[in-house]
Amino acid sequence: MKAAILRAAREPLTIETVELDGPRPEEVRIRVAGSGLCHSDYHVMSGDLGSPFPIVLGHEASGIVEAVGSDVRGLAPGDRVVTCTSIYCGHCGDCQDGHNHLCSDKPVRPQPQTNSPIRQNGEAIQQFCNLGAFAEEMIVHRSAVSKLPEGMPLDVAAVLGCAVLTGIGSVTAGADVKPGSKVVVLGCGGVGLNVVQGARLAGAAQIIAVDLNPAKLELARAFGATDVVLGGEGAVERVIEATGGGADYAFEVIGIPAVQRQAFMMLRKRGTLMIVGITRMDAELSVPALALLGKEIRIIGSNMGSVPFQRVIPTYAQLYLDGRLTLDPLISQRIALEQINEGYEQLIAGETARSVIVF
Ligand code: APR
Ligand code: ZN
Ligand code: ZN
Repeated sequence: MKAAILRAAREPLTIETVELDGPRPEEVRIRVAGSGLCHSDYHVMSGDLGSPFPIVLGHEASGIVEAVGSDVRGLAPGDRVVTCTSIYCGHCGDCQDGHNHLCSDKPVRPQPQTNSPIRQNGEAIQQFCNLGAFAEEMIVHRSAVSKLPEGMPLDVAAVLGCAVLTGIGSVTAGADVKPGSKVVVLGCGGVGLNVVQGARLAGAAQIIAVDLNPAKLELARAFGATDVVLGGEGAVERVIEATGGGADYAFEVIGIPAVQRQAFMMLRKRGTLMIVGITRMDAELSVPALALLGKEIRIIGSNMGSVPFQRVIPTYAQLYLDGRLTLDPLISQRIALEQINEGYEQLIAGETARSVIVF
């Protein structure tokens, strides 16, 4: 099969032919239909997140089941599915507590994967997030798969696997935003637009989108933003003015400590700062300690939307089919695997929300 391979940080991806070995008993082989370009993969490309190489990136995908291992129940060839990086064991304390996205005993192949299912002339190629979705096919653990309802288009469904899950989940499950709240969202990329949309679904009264890029602010209105504010210097004051004293919730969906601090400064008393964006490995968050206690601020994080993805993805797909979830404007363009480097250049330049590779 064809796959986009990253051989070292700060090098372009190369389209190469590789072999796929499996599925093993607990695994599923999937023909990829759509694969979204998320900023998280770029953290590996840029070297902000360390990783073994060579690697097939990509973690936001949809596809059709081709084959299932002997221990897989409830899935069969032909099933239309979305995959997610949150694979889980089902029996550790975190899974038993209902937080399988935080599983402490993930059924992963040993890392780095010397026995990866992706091979090239006998050499192992790593699978990013246990998926490796920038490829024509994937072999994934059975717990990485969620079935789609009838009628859900596969190219659109791809973005459910990260942008929609992470964005909406961080609002509804992570921060548990209450109806009537004032919510500010810093960073309106693929994930941030879904935080905006999640706040709308949660019944927020005011949703303020903040971004450096005016085009992203316009897009945010289509997802439910009631106000838009240009980011950077002066953004804190503008949000405090727009909210009449500060927001109840501030979501940082970029991954920059200075912006996380700005988000903190935008909160009113008893407000909540929610960290969603992935930072560099060595980044630290710094906020004024006196304001933290004086205003009784809560600071929390959300990992992949803080939800059991297998349960919520079909629900999100159904909301889309019922016209209640906005997904079409999220997909700026559909591209071929060969256009992936250009697609990432456009993401970093802020020209696109999501590019989806269609196979
Ligand atoms: N202030 C406001 N907005 C900013 C700033 C800033 N200082 N810097 C960047 N932005 C905006 C960009 O203009 C862009 O619209 O943040 C947005 C980031 O969006 P994307 O690059 O599309 O990233 P996305 O895929 O949404 O992921 C966001 O969440 O999952 C993580 O790893 C991911 O850290 C990344 C974050
Ligand atoms: Zn577990
Ligand atoms: Zn992602």
